[in-house]
Amino acid sequence: MNDTPHRPVLYKEIIHALEPTSGGRYVDGTLGAGGHARGIMEVSAPDGQLLGLDVDPQALAIARRNLAPYEHRIHLAQASYTSLSTQLAQLGWDAVDGIVLDLGASSMQFDTVERGFSFMQDAPLDMRFGPHALQTAADLVNKLTERELADLIYQYGEDRDSRKIARAIVKARPIHTTRELVAAIDSVSPRRGDRIHPATRTFQALRIAVNEELTSIEAVLPQAVAGLRSGGRLAVISFHSLEDRIVKDFFREQSRDLVNPPYEQIYEVERQATLKEVNRKPITPSDEEIKNNPRARSAKLRIVEKL
Ligand SMILES: C[S@@+](CC[C@H](N)C(=O)[O-])C[C@H]1O[C@@H](n2cnc3c(N)ncnc32)[C@H](O)[C@@H]1O
Repeated sequence: MNDTPHRPVLYKEIIHALEPTSGGRYVDGTLGAGGHARGIMEVSAPDGQLLGLDVDPQALAIARRNLAPYEHRIHLAQASYTSLSTQLAQLGWDAVDGIVLDLGASSMQFDTVERGFSFMQDAPLDMRFGPHALQTAADLVNKLTERELADLIYQYGEDRDSRKIARAIVKARPIHTTRELVAAIDSVSPRRGDRIHPATRTFQALRIAVNEELTSIEAVLPQAVAGLRSGGRLAVISFHSLEDRIVKDFFREQSRDLVNPPYEQIYEVERQATLKEVNRKPITPSDEEIKNNPRARSAKLRIVEKL
């Protein structure tokens, strides 16, 4: 696996959002190679602490190496961020100062051909972020009904050709490799001019389903808010509209008081806002960052502060 350290997406912006300080406690729920975590450790020297989570044992091994200088101040666990509350309880941390989530797959995962994330190279159709995932992409492709596949490709890939693609997949089964899947998609959804590759959306859909990505985001957000101290910040980077919508809606809902319908001019606050949005519009990478790292182009950063 390639572990060349490179600046992670929106690095400066994440450090600026969390303003790490010595003595502070931080969580990186999506450790990857540890790029953001390293920044947090540097800035929070000499006493800041970090809990770092990732479901991918290969990522954790690399992060452990990259974070070796800060070993005595970090706690790493191979665990899903959906277990955040439990992880915090195990450390005896009842409130942390900052949490970062940099969602989706890492460049390391995309670039490790045999993990099957890329439709550009032939590999077993796997796509699991870690061994916790119960099914591989091949399992889904071969087991789901045509209808279920079409729904999955439509909902998670937002592909209008979902029915045609599902039919072609079912016809081509069994499918075990990325190349076989691409061939099935190509047979009904050929490349048109400069449009994105026709397999892009189906691959995205399968990856989301295999790793239960959207339900995981829904599960972690309330835990993150519960785990922050008042004034603590949560920063979330998303990479496509399905992720961003969940984050945006949750932040917006939690930053408003829930008021009962007015009755004779008496308003009753049913639930107090728990968050303040630090930026109403998402922060996006600069042209310079996109030039150096084209994968950053769809990144959106949203930051909230606990009230
Ligand atoms: C975009 S990368 C993070 C890169 C990291 N910020 C860095 O600076 O190197 C996302 C990481 O989140 C991990 N991940 C995805 N879903 C997860 C989950 N439910 N719990 C924990 N980690 C997860 C992936 O395995 C991947 O390593």
